[in-house]
Amino acid sequence: MQLPSHDCPLCPRLYSFREQNKIKYPEYFNGPVPPFGGIYAKFLIVGLAPGLKGANQTGRPFTGDYAGLILYHSLKKYGFAKGNYDQRPDDGFELVNARVTNAVRCVPPDNKPEPSEINICNKFLTSEIAAMPNLKVILSLGLVSHNAVLKSYGCKPSYAKFIHAKSYKINDKITLLDSYHTSRYNINTGRLTQEMFDDVVAQAASLAI
Ligand code: URA
Repeated sequence: MQLPSHDCPLCPRLYSFREQNKIKYPEYFNGPVPPFGGIYAKFLIVGLAPGLKGANQTGRPFTGDYAGLILYHSLKKYGFAKGNYDQRPDDGFELVNARVTNAVRCVPPDNKPEPSEINICNKFLTSEIAAMPNLKVILSLGLVSHNAVLKSYGCKPSYAKFIHAKSYKINDKITLLDSYHTSRYNINTGRLTQEMFDDVVAQAASLAI
């Protein structure tokens, strides 16, 4: 599996943002955030990109980000995690038969990766998916993730429209399931609730059997 190096230079804008953050927040992780969870998992959750003061600080996807509170609550509820999630990479929280990764591995300014950055980083997602022999369900959090997963399978965005809680067969083995992102914005505006997200993870659990 291909992982970006800690000083990955492939996206000039993200590289220079990282260099600025190293000066501003020298104690942060400040690198492409590696996936969380084992490679033999049946269930892969694909987020957007690390948050500046969340995953980019802690070095674990969604960890320290508001979005992680919603995500990890539901994963634990449906048996995809154990231990207490305490927003720290050393909290002892473990994923069970699940793995969490991002479409873009580096924190982007204003949480918005450019299309070119999403494309450049896609090779890491593609290689990660290919390296998961038991994978059955991919949960995309938001449209960017949805399109990135389709691209990893060589499908155009027109193959499947992003619709919350809808699932698509990608091939004999793999189902793609969509959810609104668990971002603070989506929760605050009521677009997504914890209960709605629980229902999506419950759907993933039955697909992953
Ligand atoms: N943190 C992540 O790691 N990914 C997201 O998509 C959001 C927050």
